[in-house]
Amino acid sequence: MALKITVIGTGYLGATHAAAMAELGFEVLGLDVVPEKIEMLQRGEVPMYEPGLEELLRKHVAGIEGSTGRLRFTMDWAEVGEFGDVHFVCVNTPQKHGEYACDMSYVDAAFETLAPHVKGAALVVGKSTVPVGSAERLARTLAELSPAGEDAELAWNPEFLREGFAVQDTLHPDRVVAGVRSERAEKILREVYATPVAEGSPFVVTDFPTAELVKTSANSFLATKISFINAMAEVCEAADGDVAKLAEAIGHDERIGKKYLRAGIGFGGGCLPKDIRAFMARAGELGADQALTFLREIDSINMRRRGQMVEMAREALGGGSFLGKRVAVLGATFKPDSDDVRDSPALNVAGQIHLQGGQVTVYDPKGMANAKRLFPTLGYADSAVGAVRGADVVLHLTEWQEFRELDPAVLGEAASARVILDGRNALDPETWRRAGWTYRAMGRPTV
Ligand code: UGA
Repeated sequence: MALKITVIGTGYLGATHAAAMAELGFEVLGLDVVPEKIEMLQRGEVPMYEPGLEELLRKHVAGIEGSTGRLRFTMDWAEVGEFGDVHFVCVNTPQKHGEYACDMSYVDAAFETLAPHVKGAALVVGKSTVPVGSAERLARTLAELSPAGEDAELAWNPEFLREGFAVQDTLHPDRVVAGVRSERAEKILREVYATPVAEGSPFVVTDFPTAELVKTSANSFLATKISFINAMAEVCEAADGDVAKLAEAIGHDERIGKKYLRAGIGFGGGCLPKDIRAFMARAGELGADQALTFLREIDSINMRRRGQMVEMAREALGGGSFLGKRVAVLGATFKPDSDDVRDSPALNVAGQIHLQGGQVTVYDPKGMANAKRLFPTLGYADSAVGAVRGADVVLHLTEWQEFRELDPAVLGEAASARVILDGRNALDPETWRRAGWTYRAMGRPTV
């Protein structure tokens, strides 16, 4: 009989995983502790902006006309324990307040609440990003608290989905990593991922610590690549070189590769920044802190780029104070095709200029509601042209397609001065210069 799957936690990771499991043909029950989220999901609505996710959800959520009915949601842990052969734990692990370490309270609570309800043979699969060593500890929690004893087993199966591509990354993963302790656990995970594996996704079997480390090291590598190119941008700025050309040229070397070499205001979001910090904190606990001291530098290069953007804006305004100056900010989310503003470099730059007295007006295609909640004192406009109206300088800080399609001539009519600073190296300099704009980008020559 086909496996029955539960998904605990319905954020980006959980909501996408639940819908994807239904798409793969399984009966799925999703659980969250926030009633509003469950009510939305039951109506086939997604609590965040993620391309393709709502369609996938509506295709499977029970009660929606024409759906397969394979996907349901609940707040009842007993129902989850009763229903599932496989339980995926997908809750959040944010950074702790005032510390680098990650906050494991949601993961711990999920395990402690679920375990007593797992009464028969089942596989509990951790997907959250956790400090190495957590799986070992959670396996003990499970064994102690589950009435099924040894029949309730743990596996660790990290997730590599990117926001904006969550559906695609979940249905067609680059790889499936299975941290397991038994053949039975491996067999169950192979059954869950049979479709993507048959399509060619590699299936890598590891022990618990390796599976946990694959996730944090992958994100650390990506962060390092971005900070590397941003460090090159700093050197290019000093030497009058062009970091975009440099990235193109080194990217032709297959060993280096083209991806993740876009210089700009750096990485943000709910993952990369907190993951490298939690990784450093954990390495410190293990006595291996020296191995990761370089990540401190990766973090500071990254944070420095935000300050550099503020300084470029100041310079473009004549070098003095921001007082009384009007600054248009295009983009609020940490990356395009997402409404996520967590640790967003764009909002951080907007906020810094605002706090120094600038009159900042922000526009973002999808992130307005979240941005207003986080930064209610900034000005907001409901279109790019609206944000640019009367501006002394325009800052392009999140590379939405919509911004690449803007007509510089139209924007030029609205702006008070035609000066644009590209914090993402994503606009075409020639197009803007031809329309009479002064175009400047990070790590690129002035003219
Ligand atoms: C990241 C990883 O890419 C996923 O593999 C991982 O599963 C996920 O974290 C996670 O841990 O859950 P995500 O946070 O969605 O995914 O964002 P990315 O696409 O990695 O972008 C992160 C930041 O780097 C963005 O602010 C983006 O603008 C910036 N970036 C990216 C650059 O500045 N330059 C680049 O060349 C690429």
